[in-house]
Amino acid sequence: MGKSNLVLNTGLLLARHGRQVALLDGDLGLANLTVLMGQAPKYDLRDVIAGDKRMRDIVMEGPNGLRVIPAGSGVAELANLSEAERRELFEQLHDIEASVDFLLIDTGAGISDTVLSLILASDESVVVTQPEPTALAAAYAPHEGRDPAVPGLSIPRPDQHGA
Ligand SMILES: Nc1ncnc2c1ncn2[C@@H]1O[C@H](COP(=O)(O)OP(=O)(O)O)[C@@H](O)[C@H]1O
Ligand SMILES: [Mg+2]
Repeated sequence: MGKSNLVLNTGLLLARHGRQVALLDGDLGLANLTVLMGQAPKYDLRDVIAGDKRMRDIVMEGPNGLRVIPAGSGVAELANLSEAERRELFEQLHDIEASVDFLLIDTGAGISDTVLSLILASDESVVVTQPEPTALAAAYAPHEGRDPAVPGLSIPRPDQHGA
């Protein structure tokens, strides 16, 4: 819990400090970054997968030039991408990565092929989890045996925030 909020707020902070930042809504199928931003994208990754749009054409602009690549929510075809579709998305993502200082990827929970491939494609990962043994074990599962190790750990404590 708290992954999307952490990605969005980190992106907003970096953008406010003048860095070029793009966020990928990588919780494919249950995407909600644009919901958090109060925006309703006209196009999203579905249009890219269908071949109707290039990824750079669906990028939305947020505060301070923050760029967001929207995905679709409640869309099974995004939750279950084929390897060829994933490879195509990653190729287009490279173009965007080359044009920014930071590309932050918001993933879903779990160890689906999509989550694992997004983690493997990134330089660094931040684990967001709860302070319970089962949650900690589950959070680290996708990182087992990875080098370099996870550099960041965020443990939201809603009980300490009145939530
Ligand atoms: N640090 C936090 N403290 C309190 N509530 C939080 C915190 N981070 C997230 N939340 C709440 O938890 C819910 C899920 O947050 P979200 O960032 O969408 O999680 P995830 O992307 O991991 O599913 C939201 O209602 C959000 O307001
Ligand atoms: Mg999320």
